[in-house]
Amino acid sequence: MNVMCGIVGIASNFMEDRSIGVLLKEALLRLEYRGYDSAGIATIYNNKLYIKKDKGTIKEIHRKINFDDLLGNCGIGHTRWATHGSPNLINAHPHCDCNDRIAVVHNGIIENFYELKNKLISKGHVFKSETDTEVIPHLIESHLKGRVRRSSVEEAIEKTIRELKGTYAIVVIYVGLPDTIFCVRNENPLVIGINSNAIYCASDITAFLPMTNKVLMLNNNEIATITSNRIEINNTNLEETDINDRKIVRISWTPEMAQKGGRPHFMQKEIHEQPIAISNTLKIDWNKILKFGEYIHNTPPGNIYITAAGTSYHAALAGKYMFTKIANTQIHPVISSEFREYIGNTLNNDSLLIAISQSGETADTINAIDFAKQQGAKIISITNVLGSNITRKSDYFIYTQAGPEIGVAATKTFSVQLTSLALCSLGLAELNGSLLNNEILEFKNRLNNIPMIIKNFISSKEEKVRIIANKYYQNKNFLFLGRGVNYPTALEGALKLKEISYLHAEGYAAGESKHGPIAMIEKDYPVIFVAAPDETYDKILGNVMEMKARGAKIFSIIQENDQTIKTLSDDFIEIPRNIDLPFSPIVYIVPLQLFSYYVAIKCGYDPDKPRNLAKSVTVP
Ligand code: F6R
Repeated sequence: MNVMCGIVGIASNFMEDRSIGVLLKEALLRLEYRGYDSAGIATIYNNKLYIKKDKGTIKEIHRKINFDDLLGNCGIGHTRWATHGSPNLINAHPHCDCNDRIAVVHNGIIENFYELKNKLISKGHVFKSETDTEVIPHLIESHLKGRVRRSSVEEAIEKTIRELKGTYAIVVIYVGLPDTIFCVRNENPLVIGINSNAIYCASDITAFLPMTNKVLMLNNNEIATITSNRIEINNTNLEETDINDRKIVRISWTPEMAQKGGRPHFMQKEIHEQPIAISNTLKIDWNKILKFGEYIHNTPPGNIYITAAGTSYHAALAGKYMFTKIANTQIHPVISSEFREYIGNTLNNDSLLIAISQSGETADTINAIDFAKQQGAKIISITNVLGSNITRKSDYFIYTQAGPEIGVAATKTFSVQLTSLALCSLGLAELNGSLLNNEILEFKNRLNNIPMIIKNFISSKEEKVRIIANKYYQNKNFLFLGRGVNYPTALEGALKLKEISYLHAEGYAAGESKHGPIAMIEKDYPVIFVAAPDETYDKILGNVMEMKARGAKIFSIIQENDQTIKTLSDDFIEIPRNIDLPFSPIVYIVPLQLFSYYVAIKCGYDPDKPRNLAKSVTVP
């Protein structure tokens, strides 16, 4: 099964001696953050299908088998993140039919593949791999009869997808149609990019961003037939959809935004981009914030839920504290994978679900949305990807302005999610009168200072964080503690360390530490405190002392000149004053992002490609 994965297809009118292999390889490199355990490319040249694929990263495979000499006018590519079926040459995509005439790349899960595979085997089809994907070319083959034209391949794909259960984005080429690619999606992402001499389709815009920023979104169960200068889109009844009135979106992202900009890793670049990302997010039209706030304001109390996964869930949790503190409004945070069980059939037309997702494609969050919608709830969302599934399923959405995030560990998208939630809490406070207009203005003014505060903080403190990381990297266990709105900051600090350094790190509400975790503490056990001077300060100071008394090594994130915690700490990083404490996670998370980055570097890991993880988790 191939659940995150990056897929791409190109239909070009390049001269045949121009290598499409180079273009596909480069597009795959831009998608590699979606999965990197095996990769492959297929092209059609001189009436023959050429496939190169193997286990490993794209660069490793390219060094071995050279993708660049693959010729043709069109081709498809895949970079894989495997769950079932080990990452090896045989299981790598593209996959073919019995006669090597059809090649397919796929992102998603075919849930009924055993059943389909057995049926196909009984009809004489021969399978080579353990993947679910391979049923697709065989099914298409089984539906292709007589002389093959574009329309017959479309029909065969249409019949195939009627038999598939599950989620998918699929790109297909057929050897007899050397200028055409076919693609179809159901829940998994697939976008089409258009420029004057080629049309692209890919899991995500960044794949073709250097070539074009003109994008067309494909809806679920639409089949697109693409040549270098034409896109025809049919629904599953093979009725042509008029795409003239479908909006071609111009994405404001530039190709440079998706490159490392002279830094060794995307993660470091993206940490450094936070001031600009936050500053752009702060420019979101206030009327949009108010409209978002109206959905919340118009929902009866007790009926508002917020859901997300991973880092986005930590932002959602911090958002909950902001809404309580700033707008005196209760929202219930629920981890998206738990939403169905946690909420049951308790929603109705008066319910509201706020969904937070960087990618807008996370399957758990989409499932929570679908479940809430079935019960009549309204959906509003905050995402960083225009045209993503979640934006399209939402009644209203806010589009955060982080630009593309390539590093697998979310950093700048977390801070823009926090920033958007801060703005929304202020918008809601305006609507429900919990703050006066001049108070809101003052909050906004201080929020506007945050980009500069972070910029100065990174330039003056990054080296100190690196030195501290070098002191701690040999520890195998870490406890991260915070209270109030910085409890989510502690959770996020621990998650960052876990995912890129593979060290055991637990984030905990500091108050809970004495209900169990304190038993783990022995001499030099590292405990990292996020200790902003809000109303929880005295309590967290007590927690610092409890840990210190048991020999823990204390690393604290404190406000500058906090002499009390400073003297109790083995190491500390000071955060400037003048930050409104309900919004403090936007700044207090930065040293923890840098800390995990430098621990990973010191441990010798590539922070951009953490093992077993992929950027976009499109499987529930
Ligand atoms: C952690 C990380 C993941 C994502 C999670 C949700 O650094 O990136 O935990 O936050 O998979 O993804 P989105 O925000 O795309 O829904």
